[in-house]
Amino acid sequence: MIKQAIIPLAGQGTRLLPLTSVFAKELLPINGKPGIEYILDECITAGIKEVIFIISKKKRMIKDYFYNDKFYKRIIKKKKDIRIISEYKKILKYKKMIKFVYQNKPLGTGDAVLKTKKFIKDKYFLMLLPDDLIIKKNCSKAMINIHNRFKSSVMASMNVNKKTVSRWGIYKLKKKIDRDNFFIDRVVEKPSIKNAPSNKAVIGRYILPKKIFSKLKKQKPGRNGEIHITDSIQSLIDEKENFIAHNFNGKYLDCGTMHGYINSSIEISKV
Ligand code: G1P
Repeated sequence: MIKQAIIPLAGQGTRLLPLTSVFAKELLPINGKPGIEYILDECITAGIKEVIFIISKKKRMIKDYFYNDKFYKRIIKKKKDIRIISEYKKILKYKKMIKFVYQNKPLGTGDAVLKTKKFIKDKYFLMLLPDDLIIKKNCSKAMINIHNRFKSSVMASMNVNKKTVSRWGIYKLKKKIDRDNFFIDRVVEKPSIKNAPSNKAVIGRYILPKKIFSKLKKQKPGRNGEIHITDSIQSLIDEKENFIAHNFNGKYLDCGTMHGYINSSIEISKV
């Protein structure tokens, strides 16, 4: 059973400047609700019991958002507003399931994952990248079902325009399982169009095995000098660990760019 999820939140959010110059991008409202709450709701519906947030000192604001009890209690005492009471209850529910660890240097997603090593209890855990919202269908839940069936690692995937391959982790398919699921042969982080093995991209949902930590510890910096989770995934594939790509059925919203962020509110307001 997958009961723990990790969420890297130490990114600087440069693609969303100036909105992120003093504000954490994951708290920016998407159709009136902080982006991170959509991710937490996906976790809860998928049966996750504990979520580990990887933040940095500069992103303390994320912790403050869930630890503002004194403020809420004072307001509720004065106002007895039903809406505020129910919002506070929701925050308390989230807070109960969140643990915080720190990544103070932006060394990449792989380095962020490594910070959670001592908290991971089971053989597999879920990772969600908060820039990637998937609506209309719970992608994590679907991936957990596949994991339970095949007892293997799983990554969310979708076909992208060949011109944009250098924006993603791109994988080569080994074997088709059914319409939406494929065994992966190899995966490359942000390849050039020339070197891309396909137009199949990895999207920010991963079910990873605990043994990835031993690979991450030894992982040399890759593209842009960062430690990439993709490179350690490839090391595991080299050692015959099965990775399944799951073509999710929901709608993907890229909230990490300004255009995508603005569009995400419009799309969610239609649901
Ligand atoms: C990360 C991963 C990449 C993946 C992407 C999905 O890249 O490194 O493999 O395709 O998320 O959004 P980032 O968005 O951090 O540049």
